[in-house]
Amino acid sequence: MAVSESKDALAQAPPCYQDEKVTIYHADSTELRFLADASVDLVVTSPPYNLDVSYNGYRDDLPYERYLQWVSRWASELLRVAAPGGRACINIPLDSNKGGKRAVYADYVRLFLEAGWAYQTSIVWNEQNISRRTAWGSWMSPSAPFVTAPVEMIPVFYKGEWRRKREGRTSDIERAEFLAWTLGTWEFPGENPARVGHPAPFPPELPRRLIKLYSFVEDVVLDPFLGSGTSCLVAKQLGRRAIGVEIDENSCRIAADRCRQGALPPDWNVSPPAEEVGD
Ligand SMILES: C[S@@+](CC[C@H](N)C(=O)[O-])C[C@H]1O[C@@H](n2cnc3c(N)ncnc32)[C@H](O)[C@@H]1O
Repeated sequence: MAVSESKDALAQAPPCYQDEKVTIYHADSTELRFLADASVDLVVTSPPYNLDVSYNGYRDDLPYERYLQWVSRWASELLRVAAPGGRACINIPLDSNKGGKRAVYADYVRLFLEAGWAYQTSIVWNEQNISRRTAWGSWMSPSAPFVTAPVEMIPVFYKGEWRRKREGRTSDIERAEFLAWTLGTWEFPGENPARVGHPAPFPPELPRRLIKLYSFVEDVVLDPFLGSGTSCLVAKQLGRRAIGVEIDENSCRIAADRCRQGALPPDWNVSPPAEEVGD
């Protein structure tokens, strides 16, 4: 919750930015009153991980059970705004060591199912970011070793039916992209926070793949934890309409500026491997 504003003020806020493709709300995603039922085709997002990241206006160190209750609230709200056949791709850690080992990914899958979403698949993102390891548990001994998996997860959920009608809708995914991305282990580097001025941005390649794989060009994409605006910016570049929701005013400004400028770094488009896998 933002420190300085009441919940009601945030929930009723008009868009703080709008262009021909992107609408951004400075609001709290547990109450998306300004979005109609069944109005979103694809959710692409990375929520706060509860790892004590210093966001403006949001406490990222809730007791784990309270964090999970909070996740349940916005998972239900996202289901309400999702159209029939709507999808949700949620970028989260596999697990966490904060306050004891937590199976974060497993808890998210359970909570989304409880909220009424159906499970389709999971993508494992290896962001090739192996920081210096110091926590061994028990060094060179089976007594209590720690295993670290330097990956993030993207479980994919849907509302109602998985198969969507193609009639009147345009697909823009290329053959090589489809072949490469339907193998559920993705490898590309994470984003440098300093480059975008936000503590936990994801790289444009992540929303690019999810948006092209899981949405038609005519679809509406929502990121309820917009941060620096990466997903809206990419959605716009890919010709989709996009809605972003962000509780922190400063991040809203960064996101709006990036969407206004419409420019992505020159290396944003990580091409699929030249060599295709199968057919
Ligand atoms: C992991 S960051 C998202 C980063 C984003 N993917 C990017 O590329 O910059 C999570 C964001 O969620 C925002 N946030 C936290 N609680 C929120 C809430 N209840 N509603 C909307 N935004 C929220 C935080 O301020 C933070 O910017």
